[in-house]
Amino acid sequence: MSENQNQPLTTASGIPYYYHEDSQSVGARGPLLLQDFILHEKMAHFNRERIPERVVHAKGSGAFGTFTVTHDITRYTRAKIFNQVGKQTRVFTRFSTVGGEKGSADTERDPRGFAVKFYTEEGNWDLVGNNTPIFFIKDPKKFSDFIHTQKRDPYTNCKSTTMMFDFWSLNPESLHQIMFLFSDRGTPYGYRHMHGFGSHTFSFINDKNERHWVKFHFKSLQGIRNFTLEESVKMKGEDPDFAQRDLLQSIDNKAFPQWALKIQLMTEEQAKSYRYNPFDLTKTWSQKEFPLIDVGVMELNENPRNYFADVEQAAFAPAHVVDGVSYSPDKMLQGRILSYPDAHRYRLGANYEQLPVNRCPYAINNYERDGAMRIDGNGGSSPNYFPNSFDNIKPDPAYQQAPWELDSNVAAHFDRNGEGENDHYSQPGIFYREVLSAEDKQHLVHNFVSAMKGIDGPRKEDIINRQLCHFFRADIGLGMAIAQGLGVNLEQAMPQKHTPQSA
Ligand code: HEM
Repeated sequence: MSENQNQPLTTASGIPYYYHEDSQSVGARGPLLLQDFILHEKMAHFNRERIPERVVHAKGSGAFGTFTVTHDITRYTRAKIFNQVGKQTRVFTRFSTVGGEKGSADTERDPRGFAVKFYTEEGNWDLVGNNTPIFFIKDPKKFSDFIHTQKRDPYTNCKSTTMMFDFWSLNPESLHQIMFLFSDRGTPYGYRHMHGFGSHTFSFINDKNERHWVKFHFKSLQGIRNFTLEESVKMKGEDPDFAQRDLLQSIDNKAFPQWALKIQLMTEEQAKSYRYNPFDLTKTWSQKEFPLIDVGVMELNENPRNYFADVEQAAFAPAHVVDGVSYSPDKMLQGRILSYPDAHRYRLGANYEQLPVNRCPYAINNYERDGAMRIDGNGGSSPNYFPNSFDNIKPDPAYQQAPWELDSNVAAHFDRNGEGENDHYSQPGIFYREVLSAEDKQHLVHNFVSAMKGIDGPRKEDIINRQLCHFFRADIGLGMAIAQGLGVNLEQAMPQKHTPQSA
């Protein structure tokens, strides 16, 4: 139902007009008049309807809701959002696929974005994660190369399994993530039935300025549900917008989806001696050693009134953390801190923070002024420079964080080869043997085999063999099953040093 019932039709400048069936012309059949600026206004606005889609995560769905604190974690963080059990904070959450364009199908095999904006009283906190606790790479320098393999081939303009497996086979650190991706969790049944993860290691700072390293987990209270490969392919044809429709309808029908927020914590001392680099995004922290701690519940209970206004114009940035939450040395997180606001300025413009979905509902005091589409009064007549003698706005030392001890040398490449640093196989092996059920394992093998049959071109054998080596190194049974599924003759395929026995 329109919000403007019984109102006159107007131009964009609010001028009512009387007739809207055809353009002003010289006589009934004559050419059009230049003075019909309404015709021009309509055509010109239409030509400007598209903004750049997100370079990744272009297809998505979002909803507003609330986050409610259920457990006291104030000894770990002074973030105001957590300062009282029962406290509620408004959120906006956007889910997405990664590689597809804005019109692509929701059931593609892909990680799913899981981005949450908490409108806290001390500014907006964006937790911009995925439905996986890990990622394909651990250094931001590889991100654009990796994403190119997930997009279209520059010659065929088609998606290319060859590019994908070429990259993965040349970057063994991606094995852990692709094990997850090619399990049925790579094709979740919409967005309500998947977990979310902050993925990176962040830090919590408490009121004594003590730091803990922290990982965030959102556990779906709807339970995990996935499509099999065949079901996901079928759904692509039946309803490419399955996940959008599912989320929207469940909220319209008041079946509000919920996720329990939990954390894992590690002290700075524990981090120094942990067998893996705790800031390596291709690794998880053992939940036996660092158990999940309950924090609260996120509920999505309000659909946006307009998709473009809120979902398309939403801008999430890992840089946006609030007092009591901070960064870590995770290289990927460090890279993302710069990348997102840059993307937003390109995609939405310099004043994107003022769009309603992005705007902090509490006080904003700074001296940034002007720029295209400034819509918030631009600071009025108050001073536009700092320091000044006229207002009383100043930085507050209470927000200063504990100092952070760092290595003093620029790291040389050989420093990156320490113990545990390049073990890309132990955790994928544990994932295969201990996390997946017998049925999950069968599906994983089936999904890998089906995809890898699509590898072609002059490097086909190299790519397949190189990828098989990674599977063997993670788990011999997994390597054998995929090799058999692909009909690979292992004797011929692998040089002696790569046979399963030596894996
Ligand atoms: C979106 C860059 C890694 C999750 C984006 C966007 C860029 C980007 C430029 C589009 C932003 C926009 O236009 O609004 C990068 C870079 C990465 C990286 C440079 C690595 C160095 C990751 C990782 C995760 C992630 C590791 C998850 C753990 C997301 C999500 C979105 C997104 C969820 C969509 C946010 C939304 O719904 O608007 N990324 N990304 N990205 N990225 Fe990343």
